[in-house]
Amino acid sequence: MAKKIGVAILGLGVVGSGTYKTLVDHHDFYLKTQQVDITVEAVLDKDLTKMKELEIPQDIIAKSIEEVVANPNVDIVVETIGGIGAAKDFVTTALREGKTVVTSNKELICKFSHELERIAKRNHCGLYYEASCVGGVPIIRTLLDGLQANTISEMMGIFNGTTNYVLTKMAQEGKSYEAALKEAQALGFAEADPTNDVEGFDSMFKLSILSSIAFHTKVPYTKISREGITKITETDILFGEKLGYALKLLAIGKNTDKGIEVRVHPTFISNTHPLASVNNSFNAVFVKGDAVGDVMLYGHGAGSLPTASAVVSDVLFAATHTDIKYSTFKNTSTAENNVKFVSDFTSAYYVRIFVEDVTGSLAKISGVFSKCGISICAVSQNGTATDGKIELAVITYKTSENAMKNALAKINNSGFGSVQTVIHIEDEPKA
Ligand code: HSE
Repeated sequence: MAKKIGVAILGLGVVGSGTYKTLVDHHDFYLKTQQVDITVEAVLDKDLTKMKELEIPQDIIAKSIEEVVANPNVDIVVETIGGIGAAKDFVTTALREGKTVVTSNKELICKFSHELERIAKRNHCGLYYEASCVGGVPIIRTLLDGLQANTISEMMGIFNGTTNYVLTKMAQEGKSYEAALKEAQALGFAEADPTNDVEGFDSMFKLSILSSIAFHTKVPYTKISREGITKITETDILFGEKLGYALKLLAIGKNTDKGIEVRVHPTFISNTHPLASVNNSFNAVFVKGDAVGDVMLYGHGAGSLPTASAVVSDVLFAATHTDIKYSTFKNTSTAENNVKFVSDFTSAYYVRIFVEDVTGSLAKISGVFSKCGISICAVSQNGTATDGKIELAVITYKTSENAMKNALAKINNSGFGSVQTVIHIEDEPKA
């Protein structure tokens, strides 16, 4: 006999609507393949227009979270509201009532999974969040199940579709950052306020969640070095292309003998790297396991149905498993005391600098790098002088982040140079 499972959906935005449609459209398929009879028993949203659009039956429209959790037919609560206001209160209320929660909310999980998981454990219910990271790409289940045999030493990826779309348009169509972002907003990829995406916060939340799972220890987002794409120009992208690099906003997590290194920043990667061909709004995650070697997952990191695919897969997991799966790490608010984090990591760099167009400028710049212990791999002069200034692109060999920060400050304070862009090179430098 099929197992009956009732679902409540909180928030009927892009993801909530996709979840509703997926559950309704696939009802018979799940019944046949998983022997579960899943029905939507309650829907909660302030905006009633969505209810009409989706033709949601009047008798399942709830008026409050209390009404949702008091409904004995609701076994699983899906939270697709987003943010850490009402979403946090509603998820807490549902878990306290012993309802398993499935959420697509990365900020909530990144900042409060320790607190929510504690409540879930206490009330013998589950907390699942596949959809919180890279939308439809099933990276969490892959790390937890398919790759659990491995020690993961590295995870690197394009975790944000908006910025990948902007960088792709800049590279392929020569668009400015502003024009590419406007286009992304017009197409509905980018939010009216794109700060979370373009400044790397979105990727940072996802990296915190995924690296905690991959490295089996809490990686708080406060340990992640973050930088967005707002300072990138077409000049930088073109320069990288000439050297055989693609520019991507990468989220990078490494677990080395020195400790855990986690960072989000614009990065030049070699054109031959699998991540270099991930374009437009696509996301991808590249993982290195000690047994499996390299694995890459690729797909839609956002959007109604791709994200619903992850939400509903969690619903099915919860519906078909009696055991509850919690974190494989000690899920506390801070990192474990014995775990080291590397902040002064090593990287090769591309640095674009405006200098006075006079004899000796290049010598002064190379002098600063040399004093800071940084070895230069190549220097090229871009274009002709304007207003007595010329643009230099410097490629360095691998050096420490702190040495580079020191050199950049010295150049900016020198009066003869001003740093325009700094881009990490996740590879050997090329001349
Ligand atoms: N805003 C995100 C992106 C999707 O552009 O990839 C939701 O995490």
